[in-house]
Amino acid sequence: MKDMETKREKYELLCTQVQELVRGEDNMTGVLANVAAALHDAFPEVFFWTGFYLVRDGVLQLGPFQGPVACYRIPYGKGVCGSAWRKRHTLIVDDVEQFPGHIACSSLSRSEIVVPVRGIHGEMIGVMDIDSKELCSFDKTDQEYLEKIAAIVADFVNNLYFCTSKT
Ligand code: SME
Repeated sequence: MKDMETKREKYELLCTQVQELVRGEDNMTGVLANVAAALHDAFPEVFFWTGFYLVRDGVLQLGPFQGPVACYRIPYGKGVCGSAWRKRHTLIVDDVEQFPGHIACSSLSRSEIVVPVRGIHGEMIGVMDIDSKELCSFDKTDQEYLEKIAAIVADFVNNLYFCTSKT
């Protein structure tokens, strides 16, 4: 229980930090890079790879991240990221070796959570992906807060597109 409170407290601080990171900014690459860094720093003992894949030209393309090098493109429906894109909801994978078609960017990755980032009409504009070197690292608390963080990022991206299209 104490651990759970600590985790919630860390996530509450992280949500506040992410809100500050997006405030007043119009540099999408910079903001996503800083959010990836903030995620990575919040749980350094668990979060091994943190970052974004963005829908571009019909595939998920590598966006800003922290961690080891990763694959550039993920097709629709492929891997955990492409499956979350197709299913349009968060996927928690306790053991990546048991996930059919898992894309092993790093052989050290053992479990993973992928959270959708949605556009203003609910369309998928990308995913937030977090990998751990341990099995079963992600639970409903992670899902709850990472979905909140993905929503803050989505608001930022949607506002950016909306404001840009008006100018
Ligand atoms: N494992 C992911 C690929 C991206 S890396 O984990 C950074 C997947 O199966 O979609």
